[in-house]
Amino acid sequence: MSKSPRSLSGKVAVVTGGARGIGQALARALAREGVVVAIGDLDAGAASAAAAELGNGSIGLALDVTDRPGFTAFLDEVERRLGPLDIMINNAGIMMVTPLDEETDASITRQLEINLHAVIHGTQEAMRRMKPRGTGHIVNIASLAGRAAAPGLATYVATKHAVIGLSESVRAELRGTGVEVTVVMPGFAKTELASGVPDLRMVKRVTPEEIAASTIAAIKVPRFDVWAPRRLSAIMWLGAVLPRTWREAVSRGMNSNRVVATDPRARAAYEARANASAPGADEVLLEDAA
Ligand SMILES: NC(=O)c1ccc[n+]([C@@H]2O[C@H](COP(=O)([O-])OP(=O)(O)OC[C@H]3O[C@@H](n4cnc5c(N)ncnc54)[C@H](O)[C@@H]3O)[C@@H](O)[C@H]2O)c1
Repeated sequence: MSKSPRSLSGKVAVVTGGARGIGQALARALAREGVVVAIGDLDAGAASAAAAELGNGSIGLALDVTDRPGFTAFLDEVERRLGPLDIMINNAGIMMVTPLDEETDASITRQLEINLHAVIHGTQEAMRRMKPRGTGHIVNIASLAGRAAAPGLATYVATKHAVIGLSESVRAELRGTGVEVTVVMPGFAKTELASGVPDLRMVKRVTPEEIAASTIAAIKVPRFDVWAPRRLSAIMWLGAVLPRTWREAVSRGMNSNRVVATDPRARAAYEARANASAPGADEVLLEDAA
């Protein structure tokens, strides 16, 4: 028998990196469900503009997820202003396209800090706040890249695989506590992060709104795995039972090997923004992009 959906009305949610892209779509979809949202983003102006658009008492604050004491203070401030945290969405992330042997240490560090260490910290903080109350939902935005590989994305793929492993372990730790965990695995989406990257064959580029709708459904009727688009689930299931050489051939057939050939000019504006993300904005790359 299928469970009836929970009402989210009046709940308090945090969305990191919610000023644009998938995070903004998630914030909008939550607000439509009656959730009061705190958007935390490196881009403070865009965060407050996005929150103002939501109305309903939602707020937008400056947040650098890699500043762990600052991240904790941000959550304290949200709870002081809005009440206890019910839904924590660890969404902020960046993606750099480069062969690993050409990647700078700054780029590797930045992706590890934003895409992984900050997700660990956000998850840990949410557990500590939700477990004593016996309720809550932690949502980690991973990626298809958390189950699959592509040349040009080695560090990004490593961070997203780690986010899935983290979420699976935390789900086991939280079993029976009343706190739910969901991991979201979108294919390439229509946001700035994936600009210039060739489309995959067989999997259309998903919209942030589709990702948000699937995520909200998995919060209302708790579910761990969320694929977007949904057909990725079947493709990945098939891939898992194939021998490695066949699986890799299917992956190449889907165009994954073309990611590394992405035209850097098509990604210059995005990568300049991503390179300016904390920690340690990369001034050399910013000058190159100017
Ligand atoms: N776009 C895709 O194709 C795609 C596919 C699968 C998964 N994802 C994942 O979805 C998430 C959101 O991606 P998106 O496409 O919306 O990207 P985006 O670039 O459109 O938005 C990301 C937001 O995160 C913010 N951010 C970056 N660094 C931050 C930091 N240190 N602290 C706080 N905020 C920070 C940015 O300011 C931006 O507003 C990421 O985790 C990404 O890896 C994206």
